[in-house]
Amino acid sequence: MATERIDTYLEAHRGEFEEQLKALIRIPSISAQPDHDADTRRAAEFVRDNLCAMGIKAELIPTKRHPIVYGEYVLAPGKPTVLIYGHYDVQPPEPLEPWLSPPFEPTLRDGNLFARGATDDKGQMFTHLKAAEAWLKTVGTLPVNVKFLIEGEEEVGGANLEAYVAENRDRLACDYAVISDTSQFAPGMPAITYGLKGLAYFEVIVRGAKTDLHSGTFGGAVANPCNALAVILASLKGSDGRVRVPGFYDSVRPLESWERAEFAKLPFSEAEFQANLGVSSLEGELGYTTLERRWARPTCDVNGLYGGYQGPGPKTVLPCMAGAKLSFRLVPDQEPATVSRLFRDHVRAVCPPGVTYEIIDHHGAPAVLVGVDSPGIHASVRAIEAGFGKKPVFIREGGSIPVVGLIKTQLGVDTLLLGWGQPDDNLHGPNEKFCLADFHRGIKASAHLFEELAREKSAS
Ligand code: BES
Ligand code: MN
Ligand code: MN
Repeated sequence: MATERIDTYLEAHRGEFEEQLKALIRIPSISAQPDHDADTRRAAEFVRDNLCAMGIKAELIPTKRHPIVYGEYVLAPGKPTVLIYGHYDVQPPEPLEPWLSPPFEPTLRDGNLFARGATDDKGQMFTHLKAAEAWLKTVGTLPVNVKFLIEGEEEVGGANLEAYVAENRDRLACDYAVISDTSQFAPGMPAITYGLKGLAYFEVIVRGAKTDLHSGTFGGAVANPCNALAVILASLKGSDGRVRVPGFYDSVRPLESWERAEFAKLPFSEAEFQANLGVSSLEGELGYTTLERRWARPTCDVNGLYGGYQGPGPKTVLPCMAGAKLSFRLVPDQEPATVSRLFRDHVRAVCPPGVTYEIIDHHGAPAVLVGVDSPGIHASVRAIEAGFGKKPVFIREGGSIPVVGLIKTQLGVDTLLLGWGQPDDNLHGPNEKFCLADFHRGIKASAHLFEELAREKSAS
C-alpha cells in the first residue's frame, strides 16, 4: 500500500520538515510594508525552490506588487486535478512588545512553534508541499494532478491575484480546490470549514474648518468632525446588535435549522469563552448564540479611529479632521458592492451638517458556503481521519479568504477548507503559534487526501 510507505517517509523526515518550515518563517515576508519587499520576494523564491527540489515545475509570476508562485505536476491523465492555494505573505508583527520571542525567530514552547506566519499561512500551506514530496520521493509520482497557487498579497487584499485567476482560467482549471488557512474546532477536534464570511472594508474621513481651531473660542458654533464622525458611527448599530444600515439584511441567507442544531451540539462554553477574553459580557445580535453570531450573522466593527489631539496631556482643540476605518463582515448572499452602495446612502442620510466627508472603499470579499455532501468532502473526511485519527466536525468561520470566491466564480469549483490551526493560534496578533503535532498530522492528511481524491471520479 502506497500510503504505508508514505507514512514511513513522513515519520522519518519530521525534523527536516520542521527545519525547512523554520527557514521559511525566518523570512519576514510582510506584504503590507514596502521595506520588506525584498524579503517578501525571498519567501516566494523559497516556496518556488522547494517545489522545484521535489521535481515539481514551478515559477514566479511577477505582478505589480508581490509575485505569485505557480507550480504544477500534471502527469496523471484521467485523474482529477487538485488546485492547492496558500499564501506566503504575513501580517505585520507590530506591536512587538507583547511578543515573548522575536516574531521572525521561530521558537518552540509546549509543542507549539511561535512566530508570525506559523499558522497563517506558512505552516499550513507547507503541509501540502511536504505531502507532495512524500509521494514523489517514495512512489515517484502523484496519484492526482496537482497545481500549486501560492500568493503573496492575501493579507493586503491585493487585486493582482484576481486578475491572474481571471486571465488564467485554463491553466488553473481543476476538479477540486484545497486550502489550509483556517482552524480546527479545538485540540483533538479537526474540522472542515464549510462557510466563510465576506468583507466590505471602508475608511470614512470627515472634514470641517480649514484648520484646527481653539475649542473655547469656536466650539459650539462650528461643526466638530470628531463629533460628526461619532454620530455617523453610532448610527451603524442598534442596542439589539443589529446593523442599522437600511437594506443591509435584505439578502442575508438565514441559518438553516440543521446548522443551528449542529452548532448547538459542539462543545462550546460561552462562559469559558467570555472568561478567556476578559470581557464582562458577550454582546451581539439578539436571538443568536455566540457561535451563530461569529460564524453566520453579518456584523459591523470599527477597526480604527483617528482625529484630534493624540499626544500626552490635554489640548483644547476643535480638530479639522477625523477618520475611521470600519468593516462589515458579510454572509451569503450579501454582495460587497451592494453593501458599499447601501453604506454610502446611509452615511449621506445621517452625516450632520457643517462637515464634508469622503469614503474610501478598501478591500472586499464575498462570503462563501459550500455543500457538505460532495465527493471532495467525503474524501476530505477520510483523509482527516487518517491524519488526525478523528472524524472532522463541520464548522463555519468569521474570517475571510478572498480567493475562495474567485475559485468559485472563475473556475466553477467549491473549495475544500481543511484547516490545521487551533482557535487560539493568535493569527494577526502577538505570539502567533502553530502546533507542530498538527503540522505533521496536516501533512499526513494531505498525503492521504491525494489518494482519496484520486478514488473519487469527479468533483460534481
Ligand atoms: N487565514 C485568514 C482567514 C481566517 C481568519 C481563517 C481567522 C480562520 C480564522 C486570512 O489570512 C485572513 O486574515 N483574511 C483576512 C481577509 C483579508 C481580505 C485581509 C480577514 O479575514 O480579515
Ligand atoms: Mn491566511
Ligand atoms: Mn491572515
